[in-house]
Amino acid sequence: MKYLFDAVLVPSETMDTHDCRLVVDLLRASTQMTTFFEYGGSKLIPCADSDEAFRMKAEAGPGWMLMGERGGVMVPGFDYGNSPLELTRRGAPENAIMTTSNGTKALLAAASGCPEVRIACARNAEAAAWDALCSGRRICTVASGRNGKFSIEDAVCSGMIIEKMLALAPSNGGTEMELTDGALTAMALWHHFGPDLASLCMESEHGRILQELGFGEDIFFCAEIDSSAVVPYYRRGEKYGSIASG
Ligand code: MLT
Repeated sequence: MKYLFDAVLVPSETMDTHDCRLVVDLLRASTQMTTFFEYGGSKLIPCADSDEAFRMKAEAGPGWMLMGERGGVMVPGFDYGNSPLELTRRGAPENAIMTTSNGTKALLAAASGCPEVRIACARNAEAAAWDALCSGRRICTVASGRNGKFSIEDAVCSGMIIEKMLALAPSNGGTEMELTDGALTAMALWHHFGPDLASLCMESEHGRILQELGFGEDIFFCAEIDSSAVVPYYRRGEKYGSIASG
């Protein structure tokens, strides 16, 4: 069986047809989504902006919490920010509506025209790689970037996941692998900057902003590789799509 591995380095790139896309926002939205399920959350609805989030909460009722950020900090009136360490300390709410500056937007873009979408980060890298291999043959990582621009940490994390898929594919019947230019680039970046993701994230533009905001500890948490087996997936809904796990 032949696998094709592709990588989109900013979500505005034209996306080819894929069976499965892995959305990567290492700092911090895809880590936050993974941690949400790891710490007891059961349903997450991603949405594009905070006005929509408030509207959805008014419709959904009191059992729903608002989670997310703008400029890295909790949106005024929300219940949780976008800090995975906050979730580890407080525990995750059961149900949340989530909006972030880039990660939730990248997820909604990736979900358009692709049957299977997974949430991937460093913490669940190997589990997400295996899940994707079991979900189709044409697989693409989607790096969320920042404000429409390239983010080094998302590209490097994507390259790590692609390398894991290459290593694991034969165990799922893969006999031939093709890599696009995007995938080759992401892997080359991983080979250059990995495996010390914490140092890379500290130096990255977004990492420096997070440190200034006092979220330096989040970076170490986000940079841990393969510490979680949780792979959240996107589920289409009649009214809203949602993210679930398990
Ligand atoms: C985003 O979606 O841009 C991020 O997750 C921002 C953040 O670090 O909170």
